[in-house]
Amino acid sequence: SVLIIDFGSQVTQLIARRVRETGVYCEIHPYQTGAEAFAKLKPQAVILSGGPASVPEAGSPRAPDEVFAAGIPVLGICYGQQTMSQQLGGNVESGHHREFGRAVLQVERASPLFEGVWTPGERHQVWMSHGDRVTRLPDGFEVIATSENAPFAAVADEARRFYAVQFHPEVVHTPDGAKLIANFVHRIAGLSSDWTMAAYRREMIGRIQQQVGSGRVICGLSGGVDSAVAAVLIHEAIGDQLTCVFVDHGLMRLGEAEQVVGLFRDHYNIPLVHVDASKQFLDALAGVSDPEQKRKTIGKHFIDVFEAEAAKIGGAEFLAQGTLYPDVIESVSFSGGPSVTIKSHHNVGGLPERMNMKLVEPLRELFKDEVRALGRELGLPDAFVGRHPFPGPGLAIRVPGEITPEKLDILRKADAIYLEEIRNAGLYDAIWQAFAVLLPVRTVGVMGDGRTYDHVLALRAVTSVDGMTADFFPFDMGFLGRAATRIINEVRGINRVVYDVTSKPPGTIEWE
Ligand code: XMP
Repeated sequence: SVLIIDFGSQVTQLIARRVRETGVYCEIHPYQTGAEAFAKLKPQAVILSGGPASVPEAGSPRAPDEVFAAGIPVLGICYGQQTMSQQLGGNVESGHHREFGRAVLQVERASPLFEGVWTPGERHQVWMSHGDRVTRLPDGFEVIATSENAPFAAVADEARRFYAVQFHPEVVHTPDGAKLIANFVHRIAGLSSDWTMAAYRREMIGRIQQQVGSGRVICGLSGGVDSAVAAVLIHEAIGDQLTCVFVDHGLMRLGEAEQVVGLFRDHYNIPLVHVDASKQFLDALAGVSDPEQKRKTIGKHFIDVFEAEAAKIGGAEFLAQGTLYPDVIESVSFSGGPSVTIKSHHNVGGLPERMNMKLVEPLRELFKDEVRALGRELGLPDAFVGRHPFPGPGLAIRVPGEITPEKLDILRKADAIYLEEIRNAGLYDAIWQAFAVLLPVRTVGVMGDGRTYDHVLALRAVTSVDGMTADFFPFDMGFLGRAATRIINEVRGINRVVYDVTSKPPGTIEWE
């Protein structure tokens, strides 16, 4: 495995993604607990991430010294390069030569890091983001690539298999970066690609059986990919010791509740309790129009209903959750200040400790794309595994203002047509998330010979990698016109359709 020591870069997770894509297991640990992680994981290679600190400053973070004494390959990236150089006897200075963004790299020497990718004499685009830079190399190191502002853009001590780069190979703006990381993992560290979802499935089944023994497990299904994959995996491990609970809050999309029940109960034959709590939720939401209030109301009722069902089932000491690796990674905090709550998130994974159950979290080591691959491995239908994300509070946050059953009904029909048009146009997989929002605004229209005074529907579609930032999807006008015409013709209550062209930031993906 590979240990990634995190110095707080925004893109450390991308290093892990690139390593996993080569079929090699890796873990991210903050530098503060790097030594413990190193002892526990016994990695065959180490990568030191970038970070916002400055090596010349007193008290700035360092890599554990044992990393350099273990005789294993080490790759330092950006801050990782700088601290590595400093720790091995070189020198780093705070820069007057800042370099941010695209830079051109000149390849100076052949190296196993570049093998099959770059040849000496070539120039290649890379992504730089640094203020400080290395000014004297430690003994044993030589320069393998330069850039205009970084004479030590890539350096290597081939004998000790230490590599250090000033640029960021993990980001897409370094087009060959993934290949360099693959070279480090395969050629330099000699690791083979045994991290596959087939292997993960086998291993996890054993681990779940061991953890649970003859105990009973409850798993909340949300209709989303994560909880579904977790449930199918756990069922494969322990069969009917698992009971799934699907709390239907009445805020699902058209036909969605039926799909979930059909898939689990009929297709997989997994014991499933379908709780139709829509009346309770809609009653609780009546008169509520503030977005945060809606989210909190739904979260609270969800927990109440779930707890009551768990009590009815009785005897379960384990609660299954579809927690993913990005939620588990401890982050390196420099500022330590509280961050602002933009939206209080609700999902099935948010059940409180007060349920006093032990957690079964079989996806804790996986990124989202790996969960999808595992889902396919477990035979979940492609269409299900490839679904766009859907928020825990459901359609409640897609009806700005007060929610009524009538508005939900209009939104469901319009949303279904919009998604059908997207599928028909072959665009579903190119979009991260697409949905309709029913606005609390009525406008005047004319249909046939009559005046109408109906709702406005906003269409939203975005591209994104992780939901943290997003761009609006550039549909062609023909597509938008077709979707709008169908919606207005087929859904009573809507007489105008608009398209949302806001990116995130400054917008968020959902409207509430
Ligand atoms: P925003 O609107 O914050 O959404 O840009 C980012 C992503 O998160 C989803 N989302 C949620 N998911 N519970 C969830 O499980 C929630 O409460 C929630 N709110 C937003 C949103 O759909 C998008 O994919």
